[in-house]
Amino acid sequence: MQEATMCRYLSKYAFIFLFLALSGLIFLLCNIHTVENWNCHTISALYQLQSRIQSSFVDLPTFHHNRTFCAQLGQKPFPEDELEERYLLESIAWPEPRPGSATPALHQTSDPAHSLFAILPTKGRREWHVGDELEALVQMHDFLGRPKLYGGDFLLARLHSPELRAGVAGKVVDHRNGFYSAMFPLPWAGSAQVEVTLVHSSEAVSVLRRLREERPDRVFFKSLFRLGSLSESTVCNMCLPSDQHPLCNYTDLHTGEPWYCYKPKLLSCDTRINHAKGGYLKHIITAKEALLFQSGVNIKVHVHASGPDRINVLPPRKVEVENSSKNPEPGKLAPSGYFYKDSWRPLGDVTMRQFNELSAITQCLKNKVVNMYGDSTVRQWFEYLVALVPGLKEFNLHSPKNVGPFMAVDSTHNILLKYRCHGPPIRFSTVLSSELRYVSNELDGLSGGPDTVVVLSIWAHFSTFPVEVYIRRLRHIRRALVRLLDRAPGTVVVIRSGNLQALDQEVSLFNSDWYSLQLDEVLRSMFKGMNVLLVDAWQMSVAHHLPHALHPPEVIVKNMIDMLLSYVCP
Ligand SMILES: *[C@@H]1O[C@H](CO)[C@@H](O)[C@H](O)[C@H]1NC(C)=O
Ligand SMILES: *[C@@H]1O[C@H](CO)[C@@H](O)[C@H](O)[C@H]1NC(C)=O
Ligand SMILES: *[C@@H]1O[C@H](CO)[C@@H](O)[C@H](O)[C@H]1NC(C)=O
Repeated sequence: MQEATMCRYLSKYAFIFLFLALSGLIFLLCNIHTVENWNCHTISALYQLQSRIQSSFVDLPTFHHNRTFCAQLGQKPFPEDELEERYLLESIAWPEPRPGSATPALHQTSDPAHSLFAILPTKGRREWHVGDELEALVQMHDFLGRPKLYGGDFLLARLHSPELRAGVAGKVVDHRNGFYSAMFPLPWAGSAQVEVTLVHSSEAVSVLRRLREERPDRVFFKSLFRLGSLSESTVCNMCLPSDQHPLCNYTDLHTGEPWYCYKPKLLSCDTRINHAKGGYLKHIITAKEALLFQSGVNIKVHVHASGPDRINVLPPRKVEVENSSKNPEPGKLAPSGYFYKDSWRPLGDVTMRQFNELSAITQCLKNKVVNMYGDSTVRQWFEYLVALVPGLKEFNLHSPKNVGPFMAVDSTHNILLKYRCHGPPIRFSTVLSSELRYVSNELDGLSGGPDTVVVLSIWAHFSTFPVEVYIRRLRHIRRALVRLLDRAPGTVVVIRSGNLQALDQEVSLFNSDWYSLQLDEVLRSMFKGMNVLLVDAWQMSVAHHLPHALHPPEVIVKNMIDMLLSYVCP
């Protein structure tokens, strides 16, 4: 009786042992290789859960936080490219606050509330006419009210009139002694008010610069690898320290643009199925540095006027109208345009039409193929046109929301509108590997011609990398554009510049307008002299009265689209 019970117990345990041994074997087999004939669903689900858990606490690499981190990755530029690079970097050199000094205490840094500006008389007189130039002198002070003795603050200047819904960007000159000049053209008659904004103190800019050079890892990316029912996700970036895990090398064969992911533990590099933003690192600045980035204190705060901040601009002087007006002191001030009654009026040789009738837009785009490439700020143009223009219907490509690629068609008027995002480091949610393309390679695949329009917007996703990365990317795109314009002259190429956006502490560390400004200057230099139109989103967002936004409000987008269409249909 006892023996029999014992035996039953034993056989029961034996069954359990056998079960355990078998599941161990299954687990082992599943992990060794993708086993197609085994039913591993439960186990791989468990594994997926594990790898998901792992990727949410992602195994982030430790970077050597110094300037040489990326130098060995990517191709070495040709000597002439190196020369251009050096010139570009010099052209955007930003004054260092004080040579070699560590981050000063908050009270020693620039304080917009203690700083002042004054409108200076022009040629000794406080009388201004349209076509004159206005100068405001800004003096920066610290939090104790002491004058600053060095430059490097990032200031924005704007001349505007709320009544006329008019505005123009000013040019800020840093005298490097705590004084700045803000220079404005006077394009309209009537009231005009000066507005000076401290975007970041020079001390904050130093922090941003250090982050840009040393912490390109502060935004990280990830990719999912999958084969059969097995999947893993790993961290990716433009460059990764190779001394920690084996790498998968996704360097683009045509352009040499580098991209790497850590190799998954079990799967091979060619099982990568997508690319996505991984996340933003926290705690990348010290508590002392964080004081330099306070909303309402020293991020985008107005500087007050010591006297009047408003002038009345008289109609143009008679003599000067006869003589000049077409070339008002060329080179000295080069605003690309100004808002008047919320309409952008370009200055210089560009003429702009208003496309207020929707039928005029359709007429303009008739028989055209419009290819838009880049970030979400040009996707906004695509969305604007699709929402606005009747007859232009979005074709359902089953693409992920906000990612694309997207396509819209008006078959009656033979219009095709396309959007595709640029390649890594695109920070979109999830882009399939098969849809991950570099703009220059896409341009090489276009036949082009007078009915082809190419629209590019490449800026917002490059701000966390050293400027060299951006220069290299634009160089590849420029070469592809030169090839395109050579083989198909008449192709219309439009480049949308970057714009200002709403900043708080977190956004500043990753996407500050200071980063965008530096990239924007590089962009302008690199496409200067080419047969391409620049839509000056930067100055439009400086000049307009609505708050800065990464995706500008519709009234600004309308003006950008009018500018684009004016170029397509002069
Ligand atoms: C940067 O870090 C690497 C790795 O630790 C080191 O070899 C290199 O010398 C460092 N460079 C500088 C400029 O400190
Ligand atoms: C990655 O591949 C590119 C192109 O084949 C090569 O030039 C580069 O050296 C490779 N990177 C590494 C770290 O091996
Ligand atoms: C306008 O041009 C005339 C002749 O070209 C010149 O004599 C005159 O001084 C100019 N006036 C101004 C205000 O520049």
